[in-house]
Amino acid sequence: MEYVLNAPPSRQELSLVTTTPSGASTAVRTTAVAARATDLTKVYGQGETQVVALDAVSVEFRQAEFTAIMGPSGSGKSTLMHCMAGLDTVSGGSARIGDTELTALNDKKLTRLRRDKIGFIFQAFNLLPTLNALENITLPMDIAGRKPDQAWLDTVVETVGLSGRLKHRPNQLSGGQQQRVAVARALAGRPEIMFADEPTGNLDSRSGAEVLGFLRNSVRELGQTVVMVTHDPVAASYADRVVFLADGRIVDEMYEPSADAVLDRMKRFDAKGRTS
Ligand SMILES: Nc1ncnc2c1ncn2[C@@H]1O[C@H](COP(=O)(O)OP(=O)(O)O)[C@@H](O)[C@H]1O
Ligand SMILES: [Mg+2]
Repeated sequence: MEYVLNAPPSRQELSLVTTTPSGASTAVRTTAVAARATDLTKVYGQGETQVVALDAVSVEFRQAEFTAIMGPSGSGKSTLMHCMAGLDTVSGGSARIGDTELTALNDKKLTRLRRDKIGFIFQAFNLLPTLNALENITLPMDIAGRKPDQAWLDTVVETVGLSGRLKHRPNQLSGGQQQRVAVARALAGRPEIMFADEPTGNLDSRSGAEVLGFLRNSVRELGQTVVMVTHDPVAASYADRVVFLADGRIVDEMYEPSADAVLDRMKRFDAKGRTS
């Protein structure tokens, strides 16, 4: 087995070349890892009220891949995202964004890493009501005193389909449009990875489809890496891969998921007496 590493400017791609016993070689293309948890453990509380939210989770999120995280309520999905995004501390193990070990960073460095490398989309859009769409999109960069890359900003705005809505304030936009502003805001700083916790949880199915289609486009067309928590099998079917969590552990994984296959897998959780 032989690893061939080439590094185009924007992204490192790792080609894995395997040689079969017959001597024929097949090249499997896998991309570099954008984020990685290794034996990641998170314990809340102490003594009798102690909750093990993550129990030695190891998982990789590859560059330019769209991963959905699913699992019953309370299985640790949000905790995993928060620990990986540096929004929460870990109790044990390691959380890396690219080559950076989050657990080794002090508060200041962590804040900078979150600002420069991570995009986070919440279920509640968290837009500022007094700012228009464009001002909301560029707000994090304005706070950081960074000038937006205009060409990139144009691409993001066009991809989210907000070109005609930039002067509108949040209350003049539909729920789907507001969430697309939130997605554009997360993308504007060109994060290495985007985390989204139930980004369509507050949307009707049509607006949800808009946002999911956009997230998928940002992966396909812009090479963005996206990790999304969802409880909706249809939403998960937009992803390239689904990782299933139960009781703080990864219990299954599925590639090129269909909504039906995901639903079947989720039913097996229910059959074991868990709620979702
Ligand atoms: N801040 C917290 N304090 C105490 N327990 C928490 C806290 N956050 C989450 N938990 C617990 O950790 C477990 C996992 O929670 P969470 O990651 O929110 O699950 P999910 O997102 O899959 O619904 C649950 O048992 C939850 O009650
Ligand atoms: Mg959650």
